[in-house]
Amino acid sequence: MSDFRNQVALVTGASRGIGASIAQILAEGGADVVINYRSKSHRALEVADVVRANGCQALLAQADITNESEMRQMVNLVEKQFGKLNLLILNASGGMEKDKAADYAMQLNLTAQLRAVDIFLPLMPEGGCIVFVTSHLAHFYSQKPVYPIYETVAKSKKAGEEALRARIPQLAARGIKLVVVSGDLIEGTITPKLMQRQDPDLIESRRKSAGFLPSVEDFARAIVNAAGDRNLESGTTIFVGSTEW
Ligand SMILES: NC(=O)c1ccc[n+]([C@@H]2O[C@H](COP(=O)([O-])OP(=O)(O)OC[C@H]3O[C@@H](n4cnc5c(N)ncnc54)[C@H](OP(=O)(O)O)[C@@H]3O)[C@@H](O)[C@H]2O)c1
Repeated sequence: MSDFRNQVALVTGASRGIGASIAQILAEGGADVVINYRSKSHRALEVADVVRANGCQALLAQADITNESEMRQMVNLVEKQFGKLNLLILNASGGMEKDKAADYAMQLNLTAQLRAVDIFLPLMPEGGCIVFVTSHLAHFYSQKPVYPIYETVAKSKKAGEEALRARIPQLAARGIKLVVVSGDLIEGTITPKLMQRQDPDLIESRRKSAGFLPSVEDFARAIVNAAGDRNLESGTTIFVGSTEW
């Protein structure tokens, strides 16, 4: 485990699932954590309690990351409380919601990710790291088959990853790197369960063909390790779980 003492990390979508686990593990390493959430404030409060139980500071920051003014308010909060941001973990994602505009997946997985980088960059000192969390289905979009129900998400996350990679030279000029961490279906999470509505055998057949599915903690630890690994080159992709299908 890396030593994150004196470092400030922001995790988007940290109220539940993988983001909540990332926040907890960062605090185990000593990081002060900004817990971004969109709507699940009671869950975000529980994550903050865990961070504080590790002796670290927790800052709760409600913001729909597709909303520019809420994002700017979050930046102001972070600046006021910490004055800097060392690690930006781009975890929040979605795009399968039914009540959203047709371009919502692109707004969330492409536009909002780039905007998060642009508006937090001035707060990031040299040596900082941005981690983009993605899925194998998105990372290999257009190279490997994707379940139809997930196609819009995969396409938009791939667009987000490519757009972020195009920023690597600009980030390098400021001493900041970008790392991508990609996961197979993660055991016990909501997204594969939603995908399973179209194919009831989806999770079991993937578990069998891959040999295993990573747990939330496996994936979150890999993300935190990537954020703390000073030897990783910018642009590196870390794969968690089998990439064969
Ligand atoms: N689950 C998998 O099998 C799997 C596999 C590979 C990669 N991944 C990647 O892992 C990451 C986390 O996935 P997950 O399964 O933990 O997701 P999840 O359970 O659906 O949680 C999504 C999180 O993102 C937040 N969020 C959603 N839309 C947001 C918005 N517009 N603004 C701010 N926050 C927003 C949610 O906040 P609220 O709860 O407050 O609304 C929640 O905290 C994603 O990048 C995903 O692509 C997941």
